[in-house]
Amino acid sequence: MKPEVLEALNDQIRMELSSGYVYLAMAAAFEADAYDGFAHWMRLQAQEELAHAMRLFDYVNRRGGRVVLQAIPSPPESFGAPLDAFRNALKHEEAVTASIHRLYALAGEHADVATQKELDWFITEQVEEEENANRAVDLLTRAGGDLTALLFLDREFGSRRPEEEEDAEG
Ligand code: FEO
Repeated sequence: MKPEVLEALNDQIRMELSSGYVYLAMAAAFEADAYDGFAHWMRLQAQEELAHAMRLFDYVNRRGGRVVLQAIPSPPESFGAPLDAFRNALKHEEAVTASIHRLYALAGEHADVATQKELDWFITEQVEEEENANRAVDLLTRAGGDLTALLFLDREFGSRRPEEEEDAEG
């Protein structure tokens, strides 16, 4: 694997782990505010990010590359109202998507078709990640400051299931 591609893959591993850390911090903030459903949603999201990082970790190893883990910055402690947190999550996902697309283009510049093929999964996954965050922002925007609506959504978000369970059902 070309050093530039390997470095970018290691950067992406950091970004996935860092995303997981941010979502875990959001889960902690929601827990503290007794929004158990939103906390559950964020906790699952954090687990997904770890799975994304591990997918890249395994890929780099399979290609004979060396995984070098980087420092992860501390996430914020508070994120504002639920709508603010989910807007933050959406922006975060858009940044991850842009990063994956840049990585895909870089692999193309180095004719690394195997890495591009691996990244195909991430490109599809990011469409879903943005869709999920967008849906959350739409629903929370509609709820506005209505506490009843907010508590209803908290309960609904609490029913989110891990991706592998949903995939297994098709
Ligand atoms: Fe792994 Fe949510 O991007």
